[in-house]
Amino acid sequence: MKEMEKQYPFLRACHREPTEYTPIWLMRQAGRYMKEYRALRKKYSFLEMCKNPELAAKVTLQPIEKFNLDAAIIFSDILIPLGPMGVEFEFAKGEGPVFHHPLRERKEVEKLRVIEPEEEIPFLMEAIQIVRKELEGKTPLIGFSGAPFTLASYIIEGGHSKNYVLTKSLMYQDRRTWDVLMEKIAEVLIRYLNAQIRSGVQALQIFDSWVGCLSPGDYEEYVFPYSKKVIDGVAKSVPLIHFATSHSTLLELMRRAGGDVMGLDWRVDIGDAWSRLGYDVAIQGNLDPVILYGPVNLIEREVKRILDRVEGRPGHIFNLGHGILPNTPPDRVGALIEAVHRYSKR
Ligand code: CP3
Repeated sequence: MKEMEKQYPFLRACHREPTEYTPIWLMRQAGRYMKEYRALRKKYSFLEMCKNPELAAKVTLQPIEKFNLDAAIIFSDILIPLGPMGVEFEFAKGEGPVFHHPLRERKEVEKLRVIEPEEEIPFLMEAIQIVRKELEGKTPLIGFSGAPFTLASYIIEGGHSKNYVLTKSLMYQDRRTWDVLMEKIAEVLIRYLNAQIRSGVQALQIFDSWVGCLSPGDYEEYVFPYSKKVIDGVAKSVPLIHFATSHSTLLELMRRAGGDVMGLDWRVDIGDAWSRLGYDVAIQGNLDPVILYGPVNLIEREVKRILDRVEGRPGHIFNLGHGILPNTPPDRVGALIEAVHRYSKR
């Protein structure tokens, strides 16, 4: 850790160093639950906001200006690199991402482009630079990407999936095509994450949101080598958070694939998960996002429960177990952050 970065509780916690209180940020902290975000969204589509560096920077800063958060995360989407790679998609109203030409054939996968992110996704790199300037060293900035499996699932399924039948069928039945696809995605992600570091992010998170649909054996065989390759290929100058959901049976394997911090969803007991992972890795999590729909006393009780389970050990970053939901009352977000800071004060 660079000397000047020691001032940030978030970065200290990533390195398992003691902090005066437990740092907190929230996945999807810029988004529809904020009226400031919805106001901008009336004028611009989601992708327009991602692709315009000034707008992306502005949205990144919205939650930082409103709440006492310990980290900012650059406003973008895990799907952004797929367009330049040759897989076009759109966000259909109320449906999430839709790909009109999902890839399932070897010859289509062979055509995927291994891009140079600084040239093909310059708006993200510019947004990072703007945010770093605007933050003036007050809050550290996190960059991110999807993980190979989660991105492959979008490319193959053409959107969100319930059973991942097409993804798994390709994986089981056409190993060669699967390997070509995962290899290309991994190479792009290495370049993409390193480009974000060069642009100024101070930490990274890799989202393997849907990998929990796999058995441990399949994770080890079909996914582990590629997730490991990406993490090994990223410069070690910033800490990396390795996140997934429904991954309680994969925790040890994912830890082996790499990361300085393991992201946990709410389905695991955070104390048990940390003891399984070992205390030589930091952890992030793991409040159920739906708790924020409840009263402040419920939020406080759950915050205490999580803090009690980690027993004040250095290396815990408070977060939700998955992204904040669109109808979350913003005042509860404020109450959550306040409760984490207050109860964890050392
Ligand atoms: O955390 C942050 O504040 C940074 C921004 C961020 C977004 N997406 C903005 C977004 C991040 C880190 C993501 C990651 C992402 N995107 C993931 C992994 C995290 C997770 O939740 O598991 C995934 C799977 C995606 C793909 C994606 N993007 C989906 C499935 C959807 C539609 C579902 C939804 O919530 O609407 C999106 C859209 C999206 N990404 C929105 C935002 C703010 C909503 C867009 C809108 O304004 O309509």
